[in-house]
Amino acid sequence: MSDSIRIALLPGDGIGPEVIEAARQVADLAAGMAGVSIEWEEHPFGGAAIDAAGEPFPESTRAACMAADAILLGAIGGPAWDGIEPERRPEKGLLSLRQSLGAFANLRPVQVPGSLAHLSVLPQENVAGTDLLVVRELTGGIYFGEPRQYSEEEAFDTMRYTAQEVDRIARVAFDSARQRSGRIVSVDKANVLASSRLWRHRVTRLHETEYGDVILDHLYVDNAAMQLVRDPKAFDVILTANLFGDILSDLASTLAGSLGVLPSASVGGTTPLFEPVHGSAPDLAGQNKANPVAAMLSAAMLFDTVGYPETGTLIRRAVDATLAAGHMTADLAVDGVSTSAFTDRVCQQLETIELPLSAT
Ligand code: NAD
Ligand code: IPM
Ligand code: MN
Repeated sequence: MSDSIRIALLPGDGIGPEVIEAARQVADLAAGMAGVSIEWEEHPFGGAAIDAAGEPFPESTRAACMAADAILLGAIGGPAWDGIEPERRPEKGLLSLRQSLGAFANLRPVQVPGSLAHLSVLPQENVAGTDLLVVRELTGGIYFGEPRQYSEEEAFDTMRYTAQEVDRIARVAFDSARQRSGRIVSVDKANVLASSRLWRHRVTRLHETEYGDVILDHLYVDNAAMQLVRDPKAFDVILTANLFGDILSDLASTLAGSLGVLPSASVGGTTPLFEPVHGSAPDLAGQNKANPVAAMLSAAMLFDTVGYPETGTLIRRAVDATLAAGHMTADLAVDGVSTSAFTDRVCQQLETIELPLSAT
C-alpha cells in the first residue's frame, strides 16, 4: 500500500474514548478496503490530560497535532473538572487547540434522509430531506475577545470581530454555497450588537463585490432559531459567528434525531481537526451506550478533506445503510443496541460494499 496517513487521535473524556474507538475500527476497515494505511497516534487531551499531565493541552499533544496530517477528537470535559480554574479547564484546552491550529472555519453538516426523518422530535414531513451546513466561525468572537473579567461583583466578556475575520469565514460559506444549492443565510444580531453590524456590513459587501451569483439572506439569530425548527428545508448554508453557531448546531441536531449523529470539520488552519458536535455526555460515559455515528462521520469528513474521498464515502454509506436497516443506539430507538454492537453492524455493512464504488 503506497497511500498512508498519520492521524493524531485525541479520545478525551466521558464518551470520547468509546466513540473514538468505534470510529477507529470503522475507519481502519474502510481505509483498508480503499488501499489507504492509517498510522494512529493517541495523545492525552482535556480532563484526561489534566489527570495525566496537569494541563488540558500538553505540549507533547500540541506538537503531535502539528506534525499529523489530521486530528480526530472525541470530546472533553465533565463534572470531575468543572471546579478547576477557567484557564486550566478541559474546555480551555479545546479552545487553545482550535486557536493554535488557526482552525477558524467549523463546518457542521446536518442531513436528514427520508428513511430517518421519523426519528426527529419534529414532524417527519418538515424534516425529511433537510440538508444544511452550518459554517461557524471558530477562533474569534466572544469566545476569544478581550478584555474579559470575572469577579464576584461583576463579570464581562467581549464579542469582537475584525473585518478580516468576518471576510475569511464568509468566503468559506460563499464558496460552500457555490458547491451546493447557491444559497446562504447569514445569521447575526445586528439589531443590537456592534460586532454583528460589522458582520452584516462585510458579508453584504462581499456579496456585492465577489459573490453576486449566490443568493444571500440575513436573519437575526432569534428568528433563525425559530425558522430552523419551523422549516429547516428553507436553509442551505448558514453562516454565523462562534457563539450563535454553537447554539444553532445543537438545535439543528433535533432535526436529525440526536446530537449523537452530527459530525464536524474545523478547517482553515494548519492541521485539519475533526470532532463530533456533541460533548462528553457524562450521563452515558462508560456504559457502552453512546451513539458513535457523529465520530464515524467526523472520520469520514477527515478522509474527504485529506484526499481520500473513497474511504469517506465507504464510511458514510455503511453508517447510512446500518441506520436505514433500523440498527441504532438508545438515543434513537427504544430498543437501541450498544455502541459496540452498532459498530459491529457498521463493519458488517462495510464488508458488503463492492468496490469500485458505484456513483450513487
Ligand atoms: P453533551 O453534548 O455532552 O450532552 C448533551 C445531551 O446529549 C446529553 O443528554 C447526552 O447524553 C446526549 N448526547 C451527547 N452525545 C451523545 C451521543 N454520542 N450519543 C447519545 N447521546 C448523546 O453536552 P453537555 O451535557 O452540555 O456537556 C457535557 C460536557 O461536555 C461538558 O463538560 C461540556 O463542556 C463538554 N462539551 C464538550 C464538547 C467537545 O468536546 N467538543 C462539546 C460540547 C460539550
Ligand atoms: C462545541 C463545544 C465547545 C464550544 C465547548 C466545549 C468549548 O460546545 O464544540 O460545540 O463551545 O465550541
Ligand atoms: Mn457546542
